Amino acid sequence: MKKKRPLRSLSLSIAVALGLGAVSSVQAASSDNPRKQASYPVWADYTDSWTRQDAATIALTDDNTLPLLDEMPTEIITDEVWIWDTWPMTNLNARTVNYKGYKVIFSLTADRDLAFPQRHWTAEIGYSVSRDGESWEYQGDVFPEDVDPPGLREWAGSTILIGDKVYFYYTASGSDGAGPNDPEYFTQKLVVASATISADSNGVSFSDWSEHKIIAEADGEMYQTLEQSAAGPIIYGFRDPWVFENPQDGQVYMLFEGNSPGETVECGAVDDSDNTGPINTGPYRTADVATAADGELPVSPQAKYYNGNIGLASSVQGSMTEFELLPPILHANCTNQQLERPHATFSGGLVYLWTISHKFTFAPALQDVGVDGLYGFVGPSIRSDYLPLNGHGLVLANPPENNTQAYSWYAMPGGFVEAFLDNVNGEFAGTLTPTVKMVTKKHTETSFVHTFDGPFIP
Ligand code: FRU
Repeated sequence: MKKKRPLRSLSLSIAVALGLGAVSSVQAASSDNPRKQASYPVWADYTDSWTRQDAATIALTDDNTLPLLDEMPTEIITDEVWIWDTWPMTNLNARTVNYKGYKVIFSLTADRDLAFPQRHWTAEIGYSVSRDGESWEYQGDVFPEDVDPPGLREWAGSTILIGDKVYFYYTASGSDGAGPNDPEYFTQKLVVASATISADSNGVSFSDWSEHKIIAEADGEMYQTLEQSAAGPIIYGFRDPWVFENPQDGQVYMLFEGNSPGETVECGAVDDSDNTGPINTGPYRTADVATAADGELPVSPQAKYYNGNIGLASSVQGSMTEFELLPPILHANCTNQQLERPHATFSGGLVYLWTISHKFTFAPALQDVGVDGLYGFVGPSIRSDYLPLNGHGLVLANPPENNTQAYSWYAMPGGFVEAFLDNVNGEFAGTLTPTVKMVTKKHTETSFVHTFDGPFIP
């Protein structure tokens, strides 16, 4: 049985007094049945936790471990650019839409002359179209050249089609004018731009562009700011907006990757086994990171810097371009720094919350068990006590022989999951992996059951 402790005090009495969206099962419930977990109003000040105890039990099994690829795929999406984080154009219900015979996917892209690990710093969103959801034709950059997006680079997001209007949600990373040694080189803000879609025999195009509007920034109260994060070893997160309509209340919300506010989080008694420096900082190197790698940052307990969370914002009166920050729905304080690209699927009255994470972003003592993978949680509503799927949260993992084979898994309705291929035998791939299909049993257990021939988007 899982004990749940609120991150902050609950506003339940107010919720119940106002009778606003309060879900009936607000009393503390603890059960292995996700339907019996406690639920809270979307705007309540309650954040569930992915605990160190949960993560400590992560294990690779036949149900979650993907096969080793020993040959580069012969067909790649494009040889014009590297491709990584990818998402389909969907409706508000997270279902892929077919526009005049085309499915459209959006990907972060960068010049293939760059070493693949350097791709983050020049990322731009490109897109590809397909008539059958299997073979893809790369169409180039999404945003026209004369548009000046509010950042140095474009990071992940989501794309929603309503009528013939497309809403592009993405992360503006880096402040204009900032150089690699400036802290502002690492800022992240959530942005929307919209356009009209049209299609012809050559594919799909976008016109009538709106301004790019910043719709959310870290506030330092619910979400850690860049400044607050400066002491920690790994880049903070305020990125990867994913917009959806919640089937339980019909309202539009946005999930995103954040960090808990302040400089550090409280991890309880110092644990000597957590003193396993030096810190693995991964590809996101900053001046502070260099210091950490030099061993000058205090390394015990390091866990206090690992404070990833999944953020929530609600649309203001159904608007697709105005959002209000709400408290995060899940945090990984002392467990993991990055809950990246959060997204959700809804089935059987339950919410399945998905996120990706790297081995190196687990707090140090957990890096032995944590892997690059897709992680999932199931709960009765968007703000609820979630059960980590399979007990620990790991749903799909790379084979142990190559922990960085693939990344950025994206779970779609029906259990279809796509990702990008990072490397095969150490050679950078920068294209999409074959899609896999997984099934969920007893609401809380997952098993991957099929690998498609290529990057199939249903
Ligand atoms: C995941 C990720 C995203 C981010 C992008 C930047 O692969 O870290 O969170 O938007 O890559 O390249």
